[in-house]
Amino acid sequence: MSDIETLERDLGAQIEAAGDEAALETIRIATFGKTGSITALLKTLGAMQPDERKVAGPAINGLKDRLGEALARRKAILKDAALDARLAAEAVDISLPVRESAIETGRIHPVTQTIDELTAIFTDMGFAVAEGPDIETDDFNFTKLNFPPGHPAREMHDTFFFNPKPDGERLLLRTHTSPVQVRTMLAQKPPIRVICPGRTYRCDSDQTHTPMFHQVEGLVIDKTANLGQLKWILAEFCKTFFEVPNVKMRFRPSFFPFTEPSMEVDIQCRRQDGEIRFGEGEDWLEILGCGMVHPNVLRNCNVDPDEYQGYAWGMGIDRLAMLKYGISDLRPFFEADVKWLSHYGFRPLDIPSLAGGLSQ
Ligand code: DAH
Repeated sequence: MSDIETLERDLGAQIEAAGDEAALETIRIATFGKTGSITALLKTLGAMQPDERKVAGPAINGLKDRLGEALARRKAILKDAALDARLAAEAVDISLPVRESAIETGRIHPVTQTIDELTAIFTDMGFAVAEGPDIETDDFNFTKLNFPPGHPAREMHDTFFFNPKPDGERLLLRTHTSPVQVRTMLAQKPPIRVICPGRTYRCDSDQTHTPMFHQVEGLVIDKTANLGQLKWILAEFCKTFFEVPNVKMRFRPSFFPFTEPSMEVDIQCRRQDGEIRFGEGEDWLEILGCGMVHPNVLRNCNVDPDEYQGYAWGMGIDRLAMLKYGISDLRPFFEADVKWLSHYGFRPLDIPSLAGGLSQ
């Protein structure tokens, strides 16, 4: 068999065996490229005697044409196959329901939602958000808030204490957000207008108490702060938060070491078939504690009580969430149960705002 026939058979077989366009291109370069086998063969024509060239010329050129055609044919077949494979791989069944993206399927926890809602309400009234650590000193959690050492009100807080340090100091998990009042007054000059949402801890557990829970504190310090303003702020808050046009409130005398006078606030509600409605009815529900900041607290925080006065309040965030969203048990709030969360949670892109709606 002549060289040409052998070459044609070998290259023809290679072309047929090429599995994809890239493999075929490698063969094309090895055949027709600068150093390709056919290119080399064509170059031999120049050195041939005319007689020899007359025979070899058409033979080599014929081979060149046939291989060129074979390459083009195979290329077309591979291209079609590649397109078919891609169409099969990217097939879309347009009758299937649209799958929600991760950001759509996730849910915002009711506590986070409630914090976002009350932050929207109070920041609209000109309050800033202040924060403090969960691990507190006895001084900030109690003493500076006018709980003298040994005072019985300390016992009511079911405090989690850490082991004493070598110097005898005992740190604790803050039992309320009120120490953030102290931190704010020590760090800022009045006028002060802050809310302090955050985690708080008490050794307590039943259907409506968990060892970790959330509170929000409010604090206003300026020269003319008074109870009338406090009542207005709380009434506005309740109406906006519970999304009702009117809500009656009842202020009852109470006792907190850090306020004088101190009050507890109940809001009007109707209890019916296990549901609570606000802004109507004859029942009352306690929602917060408040009062005028005690002069001892102001003094302890380097604020002159002869120049400044203030009011403060504290309320349970989890309780607000339970009341607004009809959740009767507090414990699942902290059990990270996805089924519970997808039922009681909120869509992540529905950000609460006064203009756009708090809970939609
Ligand atoms: N710290 C109180 C508690 O945990 C709540 C409270 C009551 C906060 C009255 C206040 C206040 O700021 O004025 O029970």
